Amino acid sequence: MKWFLCLIAAGVYLCFQNLVDAEPRLSRSAIEKAVMEAKATVDSAYEYSRRESIERVRRNMANPSDILRLLKQPVGLTRDAVRAADYMDNTVKLIKRSLEKRQKRSINATDLISEEDLQVIADLTGCSPRHRVPSCKMTPNLDRFRTASSVCNNRKNTRWGSANTPFTRWLPAEYQDKISLPKGWDPKQKVNKRFLPLVREVSNRILRTATSDVESDPLYTHLVTIFGQWTDHDLTFTPHSPVIRSFSNGIDCDKSCERTEPCFPIELPKEDPRFGRNSEECIPFFRSAAACGSGNTGHIFGASDVRQQMNSLTAFIDAGQVYGSDDTKARFLRNLTTDEGLLRVNTEYTDNGRELLPFTSMGANMCATRSRITNDFNVEEVQCFLAGDERSNENIGLTSLHTLLMREHNRLARALAKLNPHWNGERLYQEARKIMGGYFQVITFRDYLLHIVGPDVITNQLSTYPGYDETVDPSISNVFATAAYRFAHLMVQPFMFRLNEQYKEHHEFPSPLLHKAFFTPWRIIFEGGLDPILRGLVGRQAKLNTQDQMMTDELRERLFKFSTELALDLAALNLQRGRDHGLPGYNKWRKFCGLSQPKNRRQLAKVLKNGKLARSLLDLYGRPDNIDVWVGGVAEPFVRGGRVGPLFACLIATQFQRIREGDRLWWENKGVFTEAQRESLEQTSLARIICDNTGITEVPERPFEYRPRGSGYTKCKNIPAFDLSPWKENTE
Ligand code: HEM
Ligand SMILES: *[C@@H]1O[C@H](CO)[C@@H](O)[C@H](O)[C@H]1NC(C)=O
Ligand SMILES: *[C@@H]1O[C@H](CO)[C@@H](O)[C@H](O)[C@H]1NC(C)=O
Repeated sequence: MKWFLCLIAAGVYLCFQNLVDAEPRLSRSAIEKAVMEAKATVDSAYEYSRRESIERVRRNMANPSDILRLLKQPVGLTRDAVRAADYMDNTVKLIKRSLEKRQKRSINATDLISEEDLQVIADLTGCSPRHRVPSCKMTPNLDRFRTASSVCNNRKNTRWGSANTPFTRWLPAEYQDKISLPKGWDPKQKVNKRFLPLVREVSNRILRTATSDVESDPLYTHLVTIFGQWTDHDLTFTPHSPVIRSFSNGIDCDKSCERTEPCFPIELPKEDPRFGRNSEECIPFFRSAAACGSGNTGHIFGASDVRQQMNSLTAFIDAGQVYGSDDTKARFLRNLTTDEGLLRVNTEYTDNGRELLPFTSMGANMCATRSRITNDFNVEEVQCFLAGDERSNENIGLTSLHTLLMREHNRLARALAKLNPHWNGERLYQEARKIMGGYFQVITFRDYLLHIVGPDVITNQLSTYPGYDETVDPSISNVFATAAYRFAHLMVQPFMFRLNEQYKEHHEFPSPLLHKAFFTPWRIIFEGGLDPILRGLVGRQAKLNTQDQMMTDELRERLFKFSTELALDLAALNLQRGRDHGLPGYNKWRKFCGLSQPKNRRQLAKVLKNGKLARSLLDLYGRPDNIDVWVGGVAEPFVRGGRVGPLFACLIATQFQRIREGDRLWWENKGVFTEAQRESLEQTSLARIICDNTGITEVPERPFEYRPRGSGYTKCKNIPAFDLSPWKENTE
């Protein structure tokens, strides 16, 4: 038997070749020893990081990179999956090292780990169960309700679109070493005969936008922006490994510029507007966790042989950001003291009598930002809010949507209980949850996507529902999460607007700068609640992404900054993340979408309709092929009636097409809802949801479309209520 086997372990790879029928030279006990040692290393790095994080947050020393790390921290089942992957990676690495020592030379092309050995390693580290196909026979009501993790949505490929599976790839990954290391890991290695520019340099030269220069969108409201983030948080979450320091040499990623897994720090250019000249600092960056057994151990699970990243969320539009994406979390969010099908609410505070999200019970409180922002050390701090997605506190606009939709669930559950007094809490919860999923499928397709990808793409790809297709894999693609759907970072305003009942600037609680609205649940509790913020979202315009005003410096220079520490740069993070994930360059994606591939400055200038921008990009990248896909995509001029260029319109539409066609429980699929229920759902409106759950009495009837105050605002009593009567069950 001949075989050739390559293994990947966090950045190093080794190939073993078996030309004769060699006996496996690794004993079972040697493998077990390596696994135990790897587990100890990983566990101690996790434990160190956990203690260090809690300590930093407790002492109010958490810096912006801690905040990002805590934000991207895997929890619950995701944490188990990431931990298993780390165990496996480190085991393989240890075995390599010990073999090297024995051989006194770097081993390469030796036959020391067999496929069976790898299987043993996978079993011992917990990687195997990640790949087992769950059975759907035991799950009740599969035709009626979604499972929390969406496993069994597809009955044949039961993991398709489910939580904690790898992102899919529409084009093969491109790593520096072809397997796992990011492009640019070794800055001296050329890509297509050119050096890649530093991501911070690209950010400085292409994306920089001072707060005073921001232009507003003539057509769309800031709700379009934040609803985009809301939708993203239903679909994608890419976890880090929860470590601060490198496994191999114990270096803290945020204290060093050394590239050592999982640290991939962002180097600063020689001249930087914020950091000055020749700064020795780096912006810390942690690589996304590798999916279990990806890289060259992937084939034993029938997966591909490069490093893959994991999506903790379900690929479906199912309001997962309200309910959670695994059973444990989902149960934890429910109010099980009574049998009413409700979600838990805050028992300490209300918003003028209306419900607020419950607090987290985490030991460390990264939302204790009030004293730092107000410079008053006597103020009361509160915990972060808890919701279905871990990022609900990221900004107060997003927090407001989370709160609004939690209230809507509870409103629906109570109304359903009146209609159907015989339903128990479980039934009420599931029916309300199902309606909520329907709401967002309708609103996303009917109202939102049109404004983003424009009418032409809608006509071509997203018009009439073609029916469920069980051969469509709905999984989110890596390029969607890591590049295309980050388009709206360029539509974020430098302020979180707060407006009074007349939709004018709120006198008592004026609009904070964005960087003073990150992780500030206390603003909702102590500063007038939801209503001023929601009015700000529907009553003020989005930022317009223009080719010379791309990303507000609130995100580029002050991300997660609460006082004087080193703030992050979201543009640099997006670019570095694309390299971390091995995304191919701009032109490969243009080709994937059937678009032209500009080869020189003249052609690029034509695609961008902008000679100056083409020149700046080529000064950095040398050739269009090398342009990082995120910046290439956001630099394109908009398609007609949309807010992205042709490349991102294609990638976004392709993803949503798959999300719709590959969802057995899509609201329009036969048998999911009754015809009468579908008619109700067609009439749903975000305007009415706002009216039903806040003190707001007057709203723009189409809250994505900007109307100056006075025209197009409608009294709530004139907006039709959601008709629940088709949910009344005949009990005779
Ligand atoms: C105030 C506004 C926002 C802030 C502060 C923010 C911040 C962030 C941060 C820090 C990340 C992680 C970056 C990394 O390390 O890779 C991220 C990821 C992302 N953001 Fe935003 N964002 C905002 C708004 C939006 C909006 C409006 C959209 C969309 C339409 C969006 C879509 C995304 C997506 C798709 C990801 C990748 C998520 C994942 O898979 O983990 N964001 N954002
Ligand atoms: C393995 O050996 C080949 C041939 O000597 C060499 O080209 C390759 O770079 C080596 N790979 C590693 C990982 O050392
Ligand atoms: C659970 O529901 C009951 C009844 O509506 C309510 O009184 C109680 O405060 C709720 N508890 C939580 C934690 O939401």
